[in-house]
Amino acid sequence: MTISVRSITAVFAGEVSGVDITQPLSREDVAAIDAGMDRYAVLVFHDQCLTDDAQRAFTRNFGALEASPGGNITTLAERRLPLDMQDASNLDKDHKPLARDDRRRMFNLGNRLWHSDSSYRAVPAKYSLLSGRIVVDRGGRTEFADMRAAYDALDDATKAEIEDLVCEHSLIFSRGSLGFTELSDTERTMFKPVRQRLVRTHPVTGRKSLFLSSHAGTIVSWPVPEARAFLRDLLEHATQPQFVYSHQWRQWDLVIWDNRQTMHRVTRFDETLVRDMRRTTVAGDATTVAQAA
Ligand SMILES: [Fe+2]
Repeated sequence: MTISVRSITAVFAGEVSGVDITQPLSREDVAAIDAGMDRYAVLVFHDQCLTDDAQRAFTRNFGALEASPGGNITTLAERRLPLDMQDASNLDKDHKPLARDDRRRMFNLGNRLWHSDSSYRAVPAKYSLLSGRIVVDRGGRTEFADMRAAYDALDDATKAEIEDLVCEHSLIFSRGSLGFTELSDTERTMFKPVRQRLVRTHPVTGRKSLFLSSHAGTIVSWPVPEARAFLRDLLEHATQPQFVYSHQWRQWDLVIWDNRQTMHRVTRFDETLVRDMRRTTVAGDATTVAQAA
């Protein structure tokens, strides 16, 4: 089999065929997928019946797994999945949909906002890999926005203005923007804001991209309302239809995205249905800017 990639939109996202990722891959296959990620930023694989262990093994081809606490209010005891597998489902430990007013569900509703995974960590994530184990027919899509194309389309004055700007990212900001503000002192400490550059350069291709996320709540040295209004303008710009791919899930799809070059969000669905989505994450290897002392 030879790996091939078909473009999905005019600017990014590719559909991969000719590879069974449930089995160990050759070095050439891994290189082809890596090159595809650099070019397309989002890759879709169909009909991949992954077990958790096979998903972990496939993920490790691209770097170390991110397995850190601090990304959710769900406690270790409440977790359905081990720490190296992020639970993107709507389920509790007993595989039952969370109640409408469950605090964990309300927190997870933040995933409906455009974001980049782990941008609230000092070292943000490289790739995310999401496996559709049980999918829903209506809604529950994952939408992606190409932040390289969005950057390229900015005018020169804006590019110059944002070149060295630094934002603060935190789950407190993204959840707060949905009115979810009841956090314990422990959670507030865990979600302490981190700094991220607003413009990132891809280490392989050299392409610049906007590093936006709903976790971004301030721009260092700017008045907060001015920063938030500007970030909202940029987010609106970056999520215009020409920069977006909306993925309708089929069971056993595996989608990889590069968090350094894209944002994503989940769309609304009937949460009385079971939607079992499991994510592994390739850890990033560096901060984007020095952190505050
Ligand atoms: Fe996400």
